[in-house]
Amino acid sequence: MADNQCGSDLRPSQNTAVVGLQWGDEGKGKVVDFLTSRHDVVVRYNGGANAGHTVVIGDQRYALHLLPSGILSEHIVNVIGNGVVVDPEVLVDEIDALVDRGITVSDNLRISDRAHVVMPYHKDHDAAFEALLAGAKSAGGDDRSIGTTKRGIGPTYADKVLRSTALRVGDLLKPDYLRSKIRMICDVRGAEMQALKLDVPPLNPEKLTDQALVLGQRIQPYVTDTVYWLHDARNAGKSILFEGANACLLDIDHGTYPFVTSSNCSTLGIPAGTGLPGKCIDKAVGIMKAYCTRVGGGPFPTEQTNATGDRIRERGQEYGTTTGRPRRCGWLDVVAIRYTSMICGVTSLAVMLLDVLSTFSELKICTYYRLPDGSTTDRFIPDADRLSQVEPVYETLPGWDEEIDEARIRDDLPENAQQYVHRLEELIELPVEIVSVGPKRSQTLVNPSLAPCQD
Ligand code: GDP
Ligand code: IMO
Ligand code: MG
Repeated sequence: MADNQCGSDLRPSQNTAVVGLQWGDEGKGKVVDFLTSRHDVVVRYNGGANAGHTVVIGDQRYALHLLPSGILSEHIVNVIGNGVVVDPEVLVDEIDALVDRGITVSDNLRISDRAHVVMPYHKDHDAAFEALLAGAKSAGGDDRSIGTTKRGIGPTYADKVLRSTALRVGDLLKPDYLRSKIRMICDVRGAEMQALKLDVPPLNPEKLTDQALVLGQRIQPYVTDTVYWLHDARNAGKSILFEGANACLLDIDHGTYPFVTSSNCSTLGIPAGTGLPGKCIDKAVGIMKAYCTRVGGGPFPTEQTNATGDRIRERGQEYGTTTGRPRRCGWLDVVAIRYTSMICGVTSLAVMLLDVLSTFSELKICTYYRLPDGSTTDRFIPDADRLSQVEPVYETLPGWDEEIDEARIRDDLPENAQQYVHRLEELIELPVEIVSVGPKRSQTLVNPSLAPCQD
């Protein structure tokens, strides 16, 4: 496998966070791949197989769910940190599929023994609970489901917090302990499911244990105490790239609650999800689309449920990497970006999918919200109920006619595209370090401090 050829002479000993500033799918996988050559280690710190990170190398497209995106670059060690929820079935399938495509997965992968395990019943519970929420109409008759990926993320993190019924990756390697623990879990869960009248398949502890042990044996070579491993790597002068999954507006504490995921996807999740203190993060690159998308339920002030939204969806091929669902599309919301940049301590921005906006005669950017009482605010409202009541107030910029996917430096962009990016820098008050005009490595326009990249 060809290694990432981006200027490997430039190797600052910096640790960098790559974090999504919207509702996910901003192009984090592409940026992580682009930046890997400047780091030694890539670490996932949150989420699970709800993530779908796309990396395009040459004519090959890879969709990664649990494996860090550095797995495609030979010199990188990839760590699945303790904050991730690991579905061993998905992980083993993902490893096998990559190996079949000629990618090396061996001692370039480490999995935390303290990461929590997604079991089959977590996925059943996720689906059943969503169905219950969809059926249980609120007073207004709304569907109250979150629109989860049904990957068992919420139920697994809930078990983590409940403690007694949770399983960690290290438990999969202890047969006797695992069997007796799964028996206990099945007793407790069976009673709970019956009481809740949730429509989930009955639990078979012996079968669940046998399956878990087989999967445990498959991942055993990679399992270690990643906290000490990461500290050792850092002490040895290795530079670390933190790969955020999901995105800041889906953060359990700071997102559009309750329409969020169940982990801290902002950079604030890094210390807890890796065991490395926050002071290790030297730089945070905030990843944003040049417009906005969202999958699943929840407020989205700038959503365009009209021809504009359809046009963005078709030009951007906005269909979920994990679930294939059509993504909801709309104009850029800089009120949200200013907020998520603040929460994540973002030091520079990557503006992705700018090519999708070509051929629009005008482009809108939401700069503040009008509240139901007529007043205005430029502060984000991380509460689904209140956010659903705001009206976006837009600034309109001229578009550009020509396609831009052949651009290779910022100066190649049409004047109006350059102005769009420049206006974002002014409004968000952060420098744009990367502009992306297509999924390939070569379609990445970088500031002179970063060397360009070959496919
Ligand atoms: P992630 O979850 O943040 O890694 O993003 P996804 O991989 O789920 O979704 C981003 C999609 O946009 C993927 O299909 C990428 O290949 C694609 N993509 C990334 N950057 C660009 C870009 O600049 N232009 C276009 N047209 N597609 C891009
Ligand atoms: P990446 O890393 C887009 C959304 C789901 C749903 C909500 C809760 O590819 O950007 P969950 O299954 O986590 O309980 O679902 O969060 N969601 C994502 N949307 N990209 C993601 O990840 C997402 N991860 C979770 O659609 O609305
Ligand atoms: Mg994605």
